[in-house]
Amino acid sequence: VRRGPMVGRHVVVTSGPTHEPIDPVRYIANRSSGAQGTAIAAALRDLGARVSFVTGPASVAPPDGVDVIRVETARQMRDAVDAALPADVAVMAAAVADWRVTNALERKIKKDGSGKPPALEMSENPDILAWVSGLNKRRPTLVVGFAAETNDVIENATAKRKRKGCDWIVANDVSPSTGIMGGTENAVTLIGPDSAEEWPRMSKEAVARRLAEAIAEALA
Ligand code: C5P
Repeated sequence: VRRGPMVGRHVVVTSGPTHEPIDPVRYIANRSSGAQGTAIAAALRDLGARVSFVTGPASVAPPDGVDVIRVETARQMRDAVDAALPADVAVMAAAVADWRVTNALERKIKKDGSGKPPALEMSENPDILAWVSGLNKRRPTLVVGFAAETNDVIENATAKRKRKGCDWIVANDVSPSTGIMGGTENAVTLIGPDSAEEWPRMSKEAVARRLAEAIAEALA
């Protein structure tokens, strides 16, 4: 039996990296572990929400008690989010690859003895956050994006919120000196249409719980 302020609410959470194939055995990826997205899905579940958890190939296990939809590429992630809608809330915590290989091959690329490496042509991937924010009838009531910045965090994240059309941006400082990238803690600023709230440094689970509570309050 579900209990909590999010009972009756449906939330879509994206998490993890995406893998963009080069050929059947090789891919382009990034170092996202999926830890923050996983913690957010678990925190929303704990508040009673029904959670559709759309995850790329992450290195942490998905939480129990959520609907897990596993995808590999950015385009598969967009399609999975599309299929999961309608939702009251979308939290886009995935580190989606910005580009994919246009000419991904069906067969393994072989060295041809010429000494010339293959040329990979790249295409831009769909921006899932911008797309979901721009929906009309199917737009979730609250759309939350993330912004990993290394400098001018609030300024850059505020601009990103406007550009993407989402309601909130969770901005974090990922400069190497913070040790946040790949770590267990996070230091974030929650940016809304006319506010910026700086949270103290805390565990990714604590960030997730506080964000889930803010989401529940915003919907109430
Ligand atoms: O533009 P940038 O990648 O920095 O934006 C980060 C935010 O946008 C994150 O919330 C991420 O999940 C989302 N995003 C997305 N689809 C993309 C790129 C980013 O949903 N193709």
